[in-house]
Amino acid sequence: MCGIIAYKGKKDASTVVFEGLKDLEYRGYDSWGIATVADSEVRVIKKVGKISDSGNVGLVRSNLAIAHTRWATHGGVTEGNAHPHLDCSGKTAVVHNGIIENYQELKRQLSGHKFSSETDTEIIPHLIEERMKGGISFEVAVKEVANLLRGRSAFVAISADSKKLLAVRKGTPLIVGVGNNEFFIASDITAFLKHTRRVQYLDDGELAVIDSATTFFNIGSGEKIDKRIIEIDWQQETAEKQGYEHYLIKEIMEQKETLWGAINQDEAKMLAFANDINNAYGTFLIGCGSAGKVCMTGEYLFSKVAKKHVNSYVASEFPNYSHYLTPKSLVIAVSQSGETADVLDAIDAAKKKGSRVISLLNVFGSTMMRSSDEYFMVNAGVERSVVSTKATTAQLAVTTLLAYASIGKLQEGKFLLMDVAEAVNDMLNPRYEERIRKLAQMLKGRNDAYIIGRSLNYPMALEAAIKLQETAYIRAQGFAGGELKHGPLALIENGTPCIALVANDEVRDEMISNASEIKARGGFIIGIAPENNEVFDYWIKVPDVGNASPIVNIIPVQILAYHIALLKGLNPDYPRNLAKSVTVK
Ligand code: G6P
Repeated sequence: MCGIIAYKGKKDASTVVFEGLKDLEYRGYDSWGIATVADSEVRVIKKVGKISDSGNVGLVRSNLAIAHTRWATHGGVTEGNAHPHLDCSGKTAVVHNGIIENYQELKRQLSGHKFSSETDTEIIPHLIEERMKGGISFEVAVKEVANLLRGRSAFVAISADSKKLLAVRKGTPLIVGVGNNEFFIASDITAFLKHTRRVQYLDDGELAVIDSATTFFNIGSGEKIDKRIIEIDWQQETAEKQGYEHYLIKEIMEQKETLWGAINQDEAKMLAFANDINNAYGTFLIGCGSAGKVCMTGEYLFSKVAKKHVNSYVASEFPNYSHYLTPKSLVIAVSQSGETADVLDAIDAAKKKGSRVISLLNVFGSTMMRSSDEYFMVNAGVERSVVSTKATTAQLAVTTLLAYASIGKLQEGKFLLMDVAEAVNDMLNPRYEERIRKLAQMLKGRNDAYIIGRSLNYPMALEAAIKLQETAYIRAQGFAGGELKHGPLALIENGTPCIALVANDEVRDEMISNASEIKARGGFIIGIAPENNEVFDYWIKVPDVGNASPIVNIIPVQILAYHIALLKGLNPDYPRNLAKSVTVK
């Protein structure tokens, strides 16, 4: 979480980083700050709240700036805790993303230093100051301090007496953007995509020193590292709202196209992946949040389509299962960002056991892409809303393809998904959205909702609950159709909304029975199904797409959550307390 952007070049640095921060807001948006160097002085501005709600930065012109948008870990949401943080002299400023696990221990070494925040980050400028007092150069001090920090983090430092930008990566991403006599450093490419698409990725344990060129060092050995410049092909337009009021609705609508991108995989690579699954002694799908629900769907898909036992786990719990991993195990990590700390830790646990790791990712160049043995892109394009939609359905599509590929039926899987992509294209029209908006009107005053599904659609009931929770702040819970009667049915009152995800499959009749059981207790049944049924109080039609039903069943819930949020006056792109890229544990 937290977003970093820094700039060195001819343009007004504070304006560049101010604009860049807006593109990083999805990483955290409780407060923000900028530090610039001008006339051998560090000047800082900090504010609580979203940067997009702020006016002009009001900082003097400068060619060097660092900036940060925060998602609080240590210390409350206050101006004092917002980054950048300074040393006692006010000459060194640091922005940081991550957690310094040993910060208390390091802080004890800083007696005599004056701290003005409750953050772990603030120790970094003071540790640098301490070293520079002893005559050590800024660069060497930063390198030494970087070696002291435990935990996943990344930071960028500037000093009043230096014209350099210093950036350290230790487990959390930082990418250098190379422009025309100008340089950027950011947590994510989107922050500087409008300026350059030429990038250099820092690897863990590296320091980038940006002056008139960038030099990379290993922070342990001090050795210089040669680094390639890579041209990335994401266009800035895909990261803009393009006339939509919110990223969320834009990204929901983009599912008309993104499913095609997901289907369009290198077939030979796909078959090799399927082969890995077939040869593994134990395959484990791992992910967090929506990606975790995709993993669970994958478990059902492999069971149903391929008659294969594939396990799915919440990534944060996976290290606790790693005892039975072997070099013959295969771990498939699913992640939009490729940066989620819990997934990275799960990958580390798997690698310690010598297991093979393949990632299913959306962000090219992410940490996971680089730490996995192999990777697949789901090609959903830039996803900006914190609420995942198009990346989730793209992950579902690739997982479905894999299940078919593993039994030598890749083409059959492709044809199925092409039908789905066409059906989604027809489905996402204004009339359809209006029908769901009417339902949103009916539900906007409710605090609770239940979602049931069975088989492939049970994980989608859980995913639907996430959509309603994070977007519309509804206490939504998803259940396997059969489970409601083991407790939660006691909560059903007259009018309690219950969404039933009903596909035309072997569990359809059981789902209808479960919906009837809820209706008999007064529940208001919203059926998401290819056909209407007398048990439904409100029907939302979805195409009949066989084993790909999870993809089409989740889309109406995405639209519903969006419209309830709008009717409640919420910003659907930035749910409270959340961030898109969760780089802390
Ligand atoms: C956050 C996001 C979710 C996402 C989850 C996992 O919670 O808000 O939308 O599903 O992280 O992120 P990843 O990037 O690993 O898919």
